Amino acid sequence: MSKPHTVESLFDALWVDYQNQCPSATAIHALLSGGEAIVNDHVAFRTFNLPEVGLDKLAAHFLALGYEPKGEYRFEQKKLAARHFEHPNPTAPKVFISELQVQECSPELQDIVKAMVAQVPAGATETPDFLYSGAPWKVSKAQYDALLKESEYAAWLAAFGYRANHFTVDVNALNGFETLESVNQALKDAGFELNSSGGEIKGSAEVLLEQSSTLADKVAVTFTDERVVIPSCFYEFALRYPKADGHLYTGFVAASADKIFESTDAR
Ligand code: NI
Repeated sequence: MSKPHTVESLFDALWVDYQNQCPSATAIHALLSGGEAIVNDHVAFRTFNLPEVGLDKLAAHFLALGYEPKGEYRFEQKKLAARHFEHPNPTAPKVFISELQVQECSPELQDIVKAMVAQVPAGATETPDFLYSGAPWKVSKAQYDALLKESEYAAWLAAFGYRANHFTVDVNALNGFETLESVNQALKDAGFELNSSGGEIKGSAEVLLEQSSTLADKVAVTFTDERVVIPSCFYEFALRYPKADGHLYTGFVAASADKIFESTDAR
């Protein structure tokens, strides 16, 4: 039995795993922090909406730590549904969990995904370690390619499984950066590539949230029959604006999140 997590120890464990998939996050963290601590705006997870591994299975670990369900989001074209969670302690990262609506996908995709999920050991999702355990299934390169044709999201999940898809820097809490433009410029000056789908900055002051992200790093993944280098995880940056009541907006903007998903697209 592993020791029960606190909010802090869970995010520490997620961060350790995430940096292995996104080595540039370590360098960016150092670049932006100026030696100070960096506050995480949110951490995102992906899953399939099958009962064995659905959003609720992942969310249960955060609810157990005091998180509360907040906004719900739909991404029709990508066939995704999502929900975000907040902790009463406002410095705890928000959690954004999405799930692919498998029943809306082709029979071919459904067959592959169901065969993957059938490999998840009984009870595996019950332990919080599941949140950073990687892919609990074996897939072939051909299956990955078949998923990729229909859903970049499904292909990413097949390859990388359960772990932070991205961490997000709280730009409001950064010393030395007033705007998201200045963060983006510092990243580009240091040689990092940004996701430009929908523009480098998604959202605006009008919708109370601006977001940008790097393009995912690439790492080697071992499929059952082949080892390939593919896009893994990315780093996101969020600047929030105050609502009419003076408190910062804490929700998400579906049109922006839709483009952020594309940070892991094959290229
Ligand atoms: Ni995000």
